Amino acid sequence: MNIQPKITPIYQTSVFKFEDLDAVQQYFDEPGSRYLYSRNGNPNTDELAAAVNRWEGGAGAVATGSGMAAIFAAILTYCQAGDHVLCAADIYGGSAALLNLELSRLGISVSYVPFEQLYELKNYVQPTTRLLLCETMSNPLLRVVDLHALVAECQQHGLKLVVDNTFSTPVLTRPLTYGADLVLHSVTKYLAGHSDVTAGAVVARVAEDAARLRQIGVVFGLTLSPMESWLSVRGMKTMRLRVAAHSENALIVAEFLDQHPAVEAVYYPGLPTHPQHTLATMQGAGRFGGMLSFRLPDDAAVVNGFMQRSRLFPFAPSLAGVDSSCSHPLYTSHRALTDAQRAELGISVGLVRLSVGIEPVEELLADLAQALG
Ligand SMILES: Cc1ncc(COP(=O)(O)O)c(C=O)c1O
Repeated sequence: MNIQPKITPIYQTSVFKFEDLDAVQQYFDEPGSRYLYSRNGNPNTDELAAAVNRWEGGAGAVATGSGMAAIFAAILTYCQAGDHVLCAADIYGGSAALLNLELSRLGISVSYVPFEQLYELKNYVQPTTRLLLCETMSNPLLRVVDLHALVAECQQHGLKLVVDNTFSTPVLTRPLTYGADLVLHSVTKYLAGHSDVTAGAVVARVAEDAARLRQIGVVFGLTLSPMESWLSVRGMKTMRLRVAAHSENALIVAEFLDQHPAVEAVYYPGLPTHPQHTLATMQGAGRFGGMLSFRLPDDAAVVNGFMQRSRLFPFAPSLAGVDSSCSHPLYTSHRALTDAQRAELGISVGLVRLSVGIEPVEELLADLAQALG
């Protein structure tokens, strides 16, 4: 009987068998045609890498054990001890922790570039500067970088551009098509999309960097398990539909919050008042994603009251699941930032981040209305 499953089965194995020495030699002579050991490659992991690569339009990709592993692999692709990296000041707190606490120990130093200075890097570039790391839409304030301008500025200074595209997803924006060198994801978020996977991926624009990424993945052991890869591939099949639904709901929620007397400010690129609204409209093909932040008074009791009353936005410090959630940058994702970094960005106790899900939007609005009381 010739069994032909429609969906790739889960190859839940750490290793693959060989008939004899000739067979193992053939594996090394024809890489890619066979599998040896799942850390080096597995059909499920490869399927995920290929899917992310296709979406982002790259020359090759690697799937990693988390988004953090993806950031680490991306930086190691270009940097060694003695090198310097630039990082947008508006960045996920974990990325800052990796740079501040760990890569600094390995001799890779960092300077942070304020959002307004990203297209004027000359005062930040050193002879050893190798790359700039930024997010297409920043976590948590949803600032949108101008990829055309940033690619031109990086090229002028001989820097590689590494873009964390987690918030935007390739449904909205594909940074490699603008000339970025690497694009990375916390697959944990929109790519997998159901809050049941921890995974990451990095995609390279050129084949040489893709090969380097693969070696880093294997040698540092950053690669992903078959089961997580399988779940991520399954999630990605609905990403286009989900991101459209997240974006529609988030725009309605942002407009609602923008009018609410208890809310001091709303950060969502889809609002015409957002400073990068026109840019976001062009770079996101008219969609703005499912993430937004808003500001309540800087009083923990007010924020706690909102969290306790809300039923549809549970406080869960992640994002991008089909079910809505809320998070708190100061207490969770951005607690590793220095006090000065947080003050500069305005990450204070009143800042609440929403991940708007794909539930019926009127249910979300009713819940927010009663939670804001
Ligand atoms: C923008 C961004 N990049 C990277 C990460 C890290 O991803 P992971 O938690 O999958 O390691 C996160 C996690 O929240 C994130 O928000």
